[in-house]
Amino acid sequence: MNRKLTLIIAAALTLAAYAAPAATVSAAEMSEKEKALANPYPNDFGPDTLAADVLKAYPANVQAGYKKLLSTKSGCAQCHSAARPLNSRFVEPEGGMDDAKQDAALAKLKKEQPELFADGSAWQVETKVWSRYVKRMMNKPGCNLQKADGKAIYEFLSYDSVKRKTGANAAQWAAHRKGLVEQLKTKNPKRYEELKEAKDL
Ligand code: HEC
Repeated sequence: MNRKLTLIIAAALTLAAYAAPAATVSAAEMSEKEKALANPYPNDFGPDTLAADVLKAYPANVQAGYKKLLSTKSGCAQCHSAARPLNSRFVEPEGGMDDAKQDAALAKLKKEQPELFADGSAWQVETKVWSRYVKRMMNKPGCNLQKADGKAIYEFLSYDSVKRKTGANAAQWAAHRKGLVEQLKTKNPKRYEELKEAKDL
């Protein structure tokens, strides 16, 4: 009797030991996903895909990065909708991994398009901003993104941010962002104040 009970307890403990790591990972993932969904951004009110004609004009590697971003299993849409990165105010100057090129592109934007630096809720132009954010998201517990996919997504986000939010498209972009911020303000005033306070609008 005692021996049987001991065996049952031993079996239960062994099972628990196997089950524990998996349970920990999924709990962590849930909490990041829950966090992402419980704390909305103005971005989330915008479209969660790009217009087909915009995408068609992008180079092949950039289009590939976009497709990876959209994945709900192993892309950026795993925890929150793709609308969050697609309607973000972040702009990374051209130049990719070349720091000097990015610095020069930033200086050029400051000189030629000062409006991009006058309204923080429409644009946040910063060297390496997308590189940093992709890494930040990839470091979250439970994130399924593979390193190579992260690189492709980064290439999309940096290219797309300059194309769609600056130059000839700047005014249209600012109007779009203002509309999203207004929606957050009316639909979720508490969160709006919170983000404003944190200078994260
Ligand atoms: C594991 C869950 C998870 C994944 C996967 C994920 N995110 Fe997030 N994301 C979050 C959470 C949680 C927040 C809330 C703010 C924070 O923690 O940084 C967030 C916030 C954001 C924001 C808003 C930041 C701001 O201050 O405006 C952007 C943009 C963003 N994510 C982009 C991405 C991109 C790009 C990817 C894919 C490379 C991605 N996310 C993948 C969980 C995730």
